[in-house]
Amino acid sequence: MKINFLILFSFFLSLTIFAQKKSVGIIPEPKEIKLLNGSFEFTPQTIIYFTDDNQRGAVEQLQYLFSKSGEFVLKATKMKPSKNFISLEKNQNLEKEAYRLSVKPNQIAIEASTVIGFSHAVASLRQLLPVQVESKTLQKMKWKIPAMEIKDEPRFAWRGLMLDVSRHFFPKEYILKTLDRMALLKLNTFHWHLVDDQGWRIEIKKYPKLTEIGAWRVDHENLHWNNRPDQKPSEKATYGGFYTQEEIKEVVAYAEKLGITVVPEIEMPAHVSSAIAAYPWLSCTEEKITVPPGGVWPIVHIYDPGKESTFEFLENVLAEVMQLFPSEYIHIGGDEATKTKWETCKTTQDRMKQLGIEDVDELQSYMIKRIEEYLNKHGRKIIGWDEILEGGLAPRAAVMSWRGMKGGIEAAQSGHDVVMTPGVLYFDGPQGMPDVEPQAFGSMKTLGKVYDFEPIPAELNQEEGKHILGPQANLWAEYIHTTEHSEYMLYPRLFALSEIAWSPVSTRNKKEFYQKTLSMMKRWDLLGINYAKSIFDVTGSVKVNQEKEKKQVILDLNNEFPGEKEIRYTIDDADLSGKSPKFFKPLEINKTSTIRAGLFIDGKLAGKVYKKNIEIHKAINAKVSYEPYAHKSYTGQGEKTMTNITRGSLDFHDGQWQAWLNDDVTLTLDLGQEKEINQVKIGAMENQGSGIYYPIGAQVWVSEDGVDYISVGKFTRPYADNGYAEITDFAFDFEPTKARYIKVFVDNLGKAPYGGDAWMFVDEILVN
Ligand code: ACM
Repeated sequence: MKINFLILFSFFLSLTIFAQKKSVGIIPEPKEIKLLNGSFEFTPQTIIYFTDDNQRGAVEQLQYLFSKSGEFVLKATKMKPSKNFISLEKNQNLEKEAYRLSVKPNQIAIEASTVIGFSHAVASLRQLLPVQVESKTLQKMKWKIPAMEIKDEPRFAWRGLMLDVSRHFFPKEYILKTLDRMALLKLNTFHWHLVDDQGWRIEIKKYPKLTEIGAWRVDHENLHWNNRPDQKPSEKATYGGFYTQEEIKEVVAYAEKLGITVVPEIEMPAHVSSAIAAYPWLSCTEEKITVPPGGVWPIVHIYDPGKESTFEFLENVLAEVMQLFPSEYIHIGGDEATKTKWETCKTTQDRMKQLGIEDVDELQSYMIKRIEEYLNKHGRKIIGWDEILEGGLAPRAAVMSWRGMKGGIEAAQSGHDVVMTPGVLYFDGPQGMPDVEPQAFGSMKTLGKVYDFEPIPAELNQEEGKHILGPQANLWAEYIHTTEHSEYMLYPRLFALSEIAWSPVSTRNKKEFYQKTLSMMKRWDLLGINYAKSIFDVTGSVKVNQEKEKKQVILDLNNEFPGEKEIRYTIDDADLSGKSPKFFKPLEINKTSTIRAGLFIDGKLAGKVYKKNIEIHKAINAKVSYEPYAHKSYTGQGEKTMTNITRGSLDFHDGQWQAWLNDDVTLTLDLGQEKEINQVKIGAMENQGSGIYYPIGAQVWVSEDGVDYISVGKFTRPYADNGYAEITDFAFDFEPTKARYIKVFVDNLGKAPYGGDAWMFVDEILVN
């Protein structure tokens, strides 16, 4: 009877352990974890037992662990101790990146088959230790890890991070630190964007001017990226930098110890103004240019595939690149070439005749195929941005899908390998509301959105899905001047990338992921790594209350953290504090007000203050007719967009803007009944870097009957360069007038000043 009871008891105990399936806090979540009883404690006497010299990287990582926070360095030996040790043993049956980690009270055992497998095991172990292990000063702690068994391996073979070091140069030390952080997150591919218009960053012995000239530009760092004049003859190029070949070897060797592959990117045929500034004969016009100090668009200074000397140059450069980088893949860029000069140059036209082609895309394809052949001959493969699909994909090329998933789907369906890096993995985008984030590109890419990304598109069948090598985050650095800002953009989003790239879908749990993120943030604090706290910010959405007679609007407040949360708010000038009213349900606003809100944790404001001015005006919900209707890409929320009280934000993809491409627009508002009015305001956005320009004029007329209109105001404003993204309300004030209908004409710039089309974004029309 007694025995039976015990069996029953242990049966239930094991059931609870397995049913619990609670995370032990590791990012990325391991494939399989089994919790056991007891714990292992690291002490200064703990020995590292290793069996093979290729485990030295892992041994060093283990030795580093307690060197500051415990003030002891674990001894390492190849003689097997009997107790209080951690063993590293090779297990040939394990896949390349797989590992086993067994923690028991008297021993920790790690098994793996490769350098990177051992490195992954140490990364897990480190995250199982109390966060204080990261402290730089002695901590009076017991360094205990609960007993468990982990069987782990990655879902994807490519788990990448790209750093752009051209737009702004980042020192070698920062690259090394980033590799450490990648290793802790089990990322295995560092894509090094070494070449772009604004700086050539890799020493090439055969072509010294690439770095003597191409690595330096005139210093306009005080000006906005998209508003920087070219270098004048009287000016010196003093801003920039490059990596010597010795430094690159150091980075590659460091990465190798961690098991990380470094994939260099040598852009072609575009994004190479820096190379053309050094050697003008690389372009077909051979005109002398300087290294651009800021934004370049469109990119017309590109290599000339008409001349053999261009291929000789590229092969010589790639030969040195291959000497430095042992990676299977070399990234050859391929994106965003504007090939207008190829249409008129003699060399390129001759080449096209010789090849019997009429299309410049095919000429780019010819160039990429030749480079592929050269690299294949040397045992390497190419990967390129998805434009390499245009004009015919090189036969063995892998594709990096960045313009959404489309290019990746097409490549996978035709049997090519793919790395997925669509917009949501563009970490140069803001991770919270653009108005409270540092200047960033495009729409919000919150931590949660990154976490929700699935790298294998539903369009692919199982076989095709195998061509998805994995996801990668890209950090373009146009707006990123410092390593601290770079860290801010990377973390915590890189935690999410790590989990989607590594963990089986079945183990993913968003709520737990946010909890793990909090604990990882504590680790990052101790390591002195800057990270964004945008997950603690409040977001708001405003809408017209359609159910009531009153012109009332509803403001909903939210925060991306899952579960219970404490959002507090104030209306108008009251101070926001832990004692402000708690937000339970959407607020109904009846008069023009300013709302402030914030997320509170333990009574303290956790993130930034959300501030919203809501203007209750006389045209809310008014019917609007258009001449012409908005461009099909930006129709906002349809015909009520202009009067729906929800203002478009700095994120021009937020679904609240209506836009016109080169066209002017006339909007007619029907207020439903006659009202006395004395002001009309037109909200518009400018973001010249994205081709969006303020109107160059506007006019307003009012009418009682919709037939006879009188003009109440008109303005014109000349075009002016503006590097910033901004929203302005253009206001017309006039004598109080009775009107039911309001006609608003908004004048589009019509043509972009430096070529191309001009977008005009409008929202909202406010009437008082
Ligand atoms: C890219 O973002 N131009 C690849």
